Amino acid sequence: MCHLNWRHLLLQQRISSLTDIFNPEMGRAFCIIWFLYVSVCECWRLPDSAPLMHGEIQSPQYPQPYAPNLQEQWDLSVPEGYQIRLTFTHMDIEASAGCYYDALTVLYDGKVLGKFCGRENSADGHHPGHQPILSPGNRLTLIFQTDKNNPELYQNVGFSAQYQAIDMDECSALPPGDGSGPLCNQICLNTLGSYLCSCHHGYELRSDQRTCMLSCAGGIFDEPEGHLFSPGYPNSPPHAVSCQYVISVESGFIVSLNFTDNFHIESLDTEQGPNCLHHWLQITLPDREPIRLCGAKSPGWITTNSNIVKLDYHTDDEGLSNGWSLDYSTHRVQCPFPGTVAKGRVTPILTEYFYRDYIFVRCDQGYKLMMDGQEVDSFSAMCQNNGQWHLPLPECHIIDCGEPEPLLNGGVTFLSGFQNQYRSVVQYHCNEPFYSLFGGFNVNFTCEADRKWRSNHDLVVSPTCIPVCGQPTKHLSAYQRIIGGSVAPDNTIPWQVLLSIDGQRGGGMVIADRWIMTAAHVVASNGNPASNDSVRIYMGLTDVKTLMVSPLYAASVHIHPGYNNPDHLDYNNDIALIKLHDRITFSSSIMPICLPAEDAIYITGMMGLVSGFGITEINNRRILTNKLKYVHLPVVEQETCSDSITSFKERRDNIPNLTNNMFCAGVPEGGKDSCQGDSGSPYALSDNGRFWAAGIVSWGVDCGQQGTYGVYTRVSSYLDWINKTMQEN
Ligand SMILES: *[C@@H]1O[C@H](CO)[C@@H](O)[C@H](O)[C@H]1NC(C)=O
Ligand SMILES: *[C@@H]1O[C@H](CO)[C@@H](O)[C@H](O)[C@H]1NC(C)=O
Ligand SMILES: *[C@@H]1O[C@H](CO)[C@@H](O)[C@H](O)[C@H]1NC(C)=O
Ligand SMILES: *[C@@H]1O[C@H](CO)[C@@H](O)[C@H](O)[C@H]1NC(C)=O
Ligand SMILES: *[C@@H]1O[C@H](CO)[C@@H](O)[C@H](O)[C@H]1NC(C)=O
Repeated sequence: MCHLNWRHLLLQQRISSLTDIFNPEMGRAFCIIWFLYVSVCECWRLPDSAPLMHGEIQSPQYPQPYAPNLQEQWDLSVPEGYQIRLTFTHMDIEASAGCYYDALTVLYDGKVLGKFCGRENSADGHHPGHQPILSPGNRLTLIFQTDKNNPELYQNVGFSAQYQAIDMDECSALPPGDGSGPLCNQICLNTLGSYLCSCHHGYELRSDQRTCMLSCAGGIFDEPEGHLFSPGYPNSPPHAVSCQYVISVESGFIVSLNFTDNFHIESLDTEQGPNCLHHWLQITLPDREPIRLCGAKSPGWITTNSNIVKLDYHTDDEGLSNGWSLDYSTHRVQCPFPGTVAKGRVTPILTEYFYRDYIFVRCDQGYKLMMDGQEVDSFSAMCQNNGQWHLPLPECHIIDCGEPEPLLNGGVTFLSGFQNQYRSVVQYHCNEPFYSLFGGFNVNFTCEADRKWRSNHDLVVSPTCIPVCGQPTKHLSAYQRIIGGSVAPDNTIPWQVLLSIDGQRGGGMVIADRWIMTAAHVVASNGNPASNDSVRIYMGLTDVKTLMVSPLYAASVHIHPGYNNPDHLDYNNDIALIKLHDRITFSSSIMPICLPAEDAIYITGMMGLVSGFGITEINNRRILTNKLKYVHLPVVEQETCSDSITSFKERRDNIPNLTNNMFCAGVPEGGKDSCQGDSGSPYALSDNGRFWAAGIVSWGVDCGQQGTYGVYTRVSSYLDWINKTMQEN
């Protein structure tokens, strides 16, 4: 009975009563719960009563005397694997020969173990004494029977006995009589209630759990090397073995077997050689047909090329095989020779490459590593566990430096090489004769391994074309005058500039590709520089009409800070620079004039070239010229000029002073001079056919009169300012 049934009954009552009170629906809900309980109850069946381990047996009414005509039987049992030990604590049964009248008979399995009567120490009868009775098995039957009457007056009380289960030592028992041999083939271990068989070292228990056979010593071998042998080797093994050995090492390694010479597996000799019909050693490798070995010849050395090798040794009940023994070893998987890379080097160079070996590829100088069309910084590949390199070899491609930097006002000539590739040589040149390479070096640039064009000359990092100054392509021949001077042919004074400042005409000269030099008074109004917008700059042609078509514009106007001439009486520092908005490209019609050397000297009498678009004299009328005019005038000694000015001062007011920042040029007889509108124009001296800007037309007392000279700003006094201004703007 299940105690849950009881709970369920309780529940049923409660729910029934609830059902009465509320509604009949509840009744149905209860039915479901009831089923649930039944099914749970099934699982909770109480266990069968276990055999007892001990107990007590007494004759009826003990210790009162027993009755006549009794026939009482006890069937004792204890758990399997135990014996019953029966010990009498007291016995008092009517004694008779052979216990003929009253007796307690102890039986095992129908066999009488003893028939007892009498009392302890009684002469007749058969008393068990103090020795317990041991049943051969786990059962024992006791039968107590008495006859009709008791001849003695003395009433016997019967017996009292205790029994207990004791562990049976199956191991020491004799072999069962059925001829099946001992319980255990080798070692018997008694356990409580049972026994276990076990085997000596090198043997293993068969599935019958009692016989032992030679151990296969099989299993999995995962060490890098080891020793395997058939059971019992080198002695004849037991029959019918079936042993499996698996050698399984890390992938990337391969197993080699080295069979010893002493090899013997029974075979049937056929014409095709030994046939491994009944006994064999089968070697199985992944993805390959198994091979079977037999015969008396050792297979010797076998390289499997696999990291897993399965060996199955099989013999049957007949025949004789002495077996085999082998040492196995492992080796790293070998990768093929990696090959070579054109224009590169594969390292390290080994005779053989194995799993986990690395190779590296480096390209020769001037070559780059390419993989799948991509450049890579470095390359390494590992020999993988499948015997393949994990990457294919890269290629080495020649590097190129790209197009050489274009050179402003110059160009590049390829001297040797191909497509800007490594070791190509180029040479820069400038557009002669208007530009020359900085430093005058004719340097080659070579495409180097760092992919840069590098010069073979330490000083030249990048080529620059510097303008050639003061060397017109066309030369003046005649010595002429401006006032009474002559028209300059095209390209003879290519540095000449015509300025127009708010319509006022002035002159200037090109000194760099963005710089015009002129006189301060040309670009100053009320002490301030003319506005950038008001300045128009013309150059390149000698005819004003055509020249005026395309002006250049000023980016900034810089007057010398020492120029201060509010009353037009102080022309000291009459120098200014105009920065051009755009850079000029020089040609035969536009070329800068050179600046004076640091140590330039103005030698009296040296002929200079003055040019300008100023006032000229035609038929004794002074008019602004439309053509560039020039005249050659000598440098006048400073003292001569100073005297001339002093003498004028005596006669006239408002004559400016001559300073050492000025010099004079002209001829005492007059007739040749620079004049209004020429201001700012160049006075050029030449050294070896190279013109330099010695002076800037500044002022004079009248133009071209006898005894007067033109006064020029001495440019050599301003080199620092010019340099500084050009650097800073
Ligand atoms: C195989 O084993 C034998 C004996 O142990 C040994 O002499 C021989 O060198 C081994 N063979 C190889 C290839 O290692
Ligand atoms: C420039 O290279 C050319 C051709 O390689 C060679 O003949 C010449 O001497 C080189 N010039 C200089 C300045 O190195
Ligand atoms: C001319 O332009 C320069 C640069 O843009 C500027 O600094 C300067 O002030 C300008 N000068 C005049 C007078 O506009
Ligand atoms: C010219 O020089 C004289 C004497 O050296 C001086 O007194 C005069 O102020 C100067 N004139 C001007 C305009 O600088
Ligand atoms: C201009 O100045 C720089 C640095 O101040 C100097 O290196 C250079 O030689 C100077 N140029 C001239 C023409 O004076």
